[in-house]
Amino acid sequence: MGQISFLLNGQTVRATGEDPHTTVLSWLRQQGLTGSKEGCAEGECGACAVLLLRPDGQGSRFEAVNSCLLLLPSLAGQEVWTVEGLAQGNTLHPVQEAMLQGGSQCGYCTPGFVVSMAAEYYRRDRDGFDLEALSGNLCRCTGYRPIQDAANSLGQPPQEDSLARRLTAPVPAVKSMEYCPETNGSPVQSPGRYYRPISLKELFQTLTDHPTAKLVAGGTDWVVEVNQRFARAEVQVDLSQIPDLKTLSWTDVYVEMGAGVTLCEAERWLQGRIPLLVEWFPLFASRLIRNRATLGGNLGTASPIGDLPPVLLALQAELVLVGPAGVRVVNLQSFFSGYRQTVLGPGEVIQAIRIPLPLAPLARFYKVAKRPMDDISTVAAAFALHLEKGRVQSIQIGLGGVAPTPVRAYRTEAFLVGRPWDERTVGAAAEVIRAEFKPIDDHRGSAAYRTAMLGSLLHKFHAETPEVRV
Ligand SMILES: Cc1cc2nc3c(=O)[nH]c(=O)nc-3n(C[C@H](O)[C@H](O)[C@H](O)COP(=O)(O)OP(=O)(O)OC[C@H]3O[C@@H](n4cnc5c(N)ncnc54)[C@H](O)[C@@H]3O)c2cc1C
Ligand code: FES
Ligand code: FES
Repeated sequence: MGQISFLLNGQTVRATGEDPHTTVLSWLRQQGLTGSKEGCAEGECGACAVLLLRPDGQGSRFEAVNSCLLLLPSLAGQEVWTVEGLAQGNTLHPVQEAMLQGGSQCGYCTPGFVVSMAAEYYRRDRDGFDLEALSGNLCRCTGYRPIQDAANSLGQPPQEDSLARRLTAPVPAVKSMEYCPETNGSPVQSPGRYYRPISLKELFQTLTDHPTAKLVAGGTDWVVEVNQRFARAEVQVDLSQIPDLKTLSWTDVYVEMGAGVTLCEAERWLQGRIPLLVEWFPLFASRLIRNRATLGGNLGTASPIGDLPPVLLALQAELVLVGPAGVRVVNLQSFFSGYRQTVLGPGEVIQAIRIPLPLAPLARFYKVAKRPMDDISTVAAAFALHLEKGRVQSIQIGLGGVAPTPVRAYRTEAFLVGRPWDERTVGAAAEVIRAEFKPIDDHRGSAAYRTAMLGSLLHKFHAETPEVRV
């Protein structure tokens, strides 16, 4: 209860007396492991990347994650490697050797690149190098070409590589955990508590005992608040080790993904089977963030500019909510009850996301942001369309960034149904969708710009469905 024990670079370590809001990055650096750097403390630069051992079938895999967004208590019972753990004695790791051939100048970003590269280096069945693995790492001086060259020069890990051998064994089973820092055996004054239940039953008991507890899944929203706005919670409840929140199933009538499934886990499992999600994944932050960010976390914040809600609204998703009183299923559009508010009752959490089958044959996702990659959307729109003999049989339009909550464009949808899917109809529908919402002005975009985007994105969707033009 008063200590956090885990494996760090293959050695057992114990942390005591730490505030439960302490990030892994700040703790590592306090221990003298200063290879991991702090560039931003909000998941943008990747200089703090570390390797976390995660389950992978019978064995395990390395996932690179931002240690600035990882809370120290969440590591209890887990295995983590930092850049210091990669070299074997005086022999540099192959990834470090490769980066030395021109991939580093000031070196500030280098440990983060090395860690992200190492995660990809050890990926099972790797064929070549997936440069997307480096999407969360920024370099201000070297330029990315030499770094890509370093990545592309990597061969396969040799048989005797101790880290590769580690991946053939499973991750240790994690136990439920309650952490409250102590000094000399007595609890510290108001430090907060951290609970990590491993079943729904334990979760509900914890939430009954602590009704105002802060839920933490991947932490990629919450720990940014902790770092940048000094947000603190008396009780934090970690959802990341509850198997009932991580289920994945594909039935004849729906696809169900647990709310605790990370974006990378969902992407690997789906293998392209939901094209709208295939378009969405790479536009969401970086691999480092997607290794931690969960589906449920993107819905639970009820942010009007979260990217998943528009996609799921177009897919007509339902949410399975679970709480002490049992399970209920709600349509996603009725889940958001106001600006950053949801219909979740006391002690209730999102258990899973359910997407009905069959999927609409034509679908696209568009994210309008200041940068094409790794940015928050100004407007996001997802379209799912079913045509019958050139006419709109059904259409679902999910939108973000144009109202206090993510929304469906019901009026525009109703206007389109039954009409021919041609430029005349779409031109008229663009007028309808522009009038349907009253977006706000903010630093990301003016109301007029957002309104204009609504019409433009509808035209774009039409232009990109030429095979069905009539
Ligand atoms: C660098 C960076 C880039 C980002 N880019 C994007 C982006 O491109 N698009 C985008 O939409 N977001 C983006 N985000 C925001 C964030 O990554 C996502 O919202 C993510 O999905 C949150 O998931 P999480 O598990 O990390 O949430 P957490 O931070 O763990 O949780 C957020 C909140 O969600 C609630 N919650 C979590 N799980 C549940 C559950 N099962 N039931 C009920 N409530 C729950 C809790 O209230 C919790 O406090 C970015 C964040 C960062 C730091
Ligand atoms: S310090 Fe920049 S991503 Fe962690
Ligand atoms: S080498 Fe200087 S930031 Fe990358």
